[in-house]
Amino acid sequence: MISSINKDIMPENWYNVVPDLPEPLAPPKDSKSEFSSINLLNKILPKEILKQEFTFRRYEKIPDEVIEQYKQIGRPTPLIRAKNLEKFLNYNGKIFYKYEGATATGSHKINTAIPQAYYARNEGVNGVTTETGAGQWGSATALAASLYKLPAQIFMVRISFEQKPLRKIVMNLYNGNVVPSPSNLTEYGRRVLKEHPDTPGTLGIGISEAIEYALDHDYRYMVASVMNVALTHQSVVGQEAKKQLELLGEHADVLIGCVGGGSNFGGFTFPFIPDNPDTEIIATTADEVPKFSKGEYKYDLMDTAGVLPEMRMYSLGADFVPPTIYAGGLRYHGASPSLSLLINKGRIKSDEVTQEEVTEALRIFANTQGIIAAPESGHAIATMLKYVKEHKNDKKTIVVNVSGHGLLDMSIFGDKP
Ligand SMILES: Cc1ncc(COP(=O)(O)O)c(C=O)c1O
Repeated sequence: MISSINKDIMPENWYNVVPDLPEPLAPPKDSKSEFSSINLLNKILPKEILKQEFTFRRYEKIPDEVIEQYKQIGRPTPLIRAKNLEKFLNYNGKIFYKYEGATATGSHKINTAIPQAYYARNEGVNGVTTETGAGQWGSATALAASLYKLPAQIFMVRISFEQKPLRKIVMNLYNGNVVPSPSNLTEYGRRVLKEHPDTPGTLGIGISEAIEYALDHDYRYMVASVMNVALTHQSVVGQEAKKQLELLGEHADVLIGCVGGGSNFGGFTFPFIPDNPDTEIIATTADEVPKFSKGEYKYDLMDTAGVLPEMRMYSLGADFVPPTIYAGGLRYHGASPSLSLLINKGRIKSDEVTQEEVTEALRIFANTQGIIAAPESGHAIATMLKYVKEHKNDKKTIVVNVSGHGLLDMSIFGDKP
């Protein structure tokens, strides 16, 4: 019975929003004149990933083997009506949350790590490599690689490597090899270490190291977010939620999610775009990283080092150094081009919340629904609480994406949980 319900909820295809955008996406641009960063993508991404990145097709069949792995890591994830929270808020409408924290690695990141490792394995490469900040993406990469028996080399931003030792243990447990970045494993890393021995590291340095490593070792680079292919894979989240609401006879009036590079947000909300023109969609960022209100909509570098192509997106500038907020996953300077376009055209609205609002939201959510959400997801919950306050007498159905659990990110609560 349960497996037949699950089968009905899980999609057979990934959904790609590109053909449903209000205007064509601006193409990527070479970021440097001395070499083509677009050509570089051919060497560092599995061929199938590259094809999916630039496709105009609305649907892409999910390979059976990937569907099986999705089931193994906990898909479909639950859509839960937050009745305790509704009661606590005296809300007349309904609140639902989609819970990606229920996957094996505790966040949505595994939804794209699995297909990327699958295609890399099919192409017979030596292994996969990537960068990671707080470690959610690194954990997902390590597990996905391990499932397909591929070695994984992960470059973890040095400051996070030192501050989050548990994440390293998780990645090692999944057979991932993790080094603090900058590292001695690459020429670029050695150069940075020589010039700035005390650098805390950045995602940009990690990306450059991972790409050099991929080129030197016939590994493939795993894309965490921002690029369209990652959002397409994440569409399993929104497609499941849509189906779950349908089975409950509910209609989403409002969708809310948090934005780092845009992968959980795009994956959750984009599947609603073609059929739900009246659904209000809100993207939340940290007020310390105000990319949509203070960023410019322009061509900009995806990574600080300028190894990857430039994309047209909302950006605070690739050299923007965000403060060290607790939600490491939301510190990225830009946002996925498709999401940026939808914001620019007014289809998606944005909101910014403070760390105080996030901490309060996480506490309320924990004490009503019992879930200790990731600090990143706490941003979406904070926007939802604001929305309810402002629309107390409405009877709207609000659906929020809780992109991960926060069980390894407790420092946001200080020493007074
Ligand atoms: C739990 C969680 N939510 C959200 C994000 C933000 O990334 P994205 O915008 O790609 O979903 C991250 C990134 O690390 C994360 O770990």
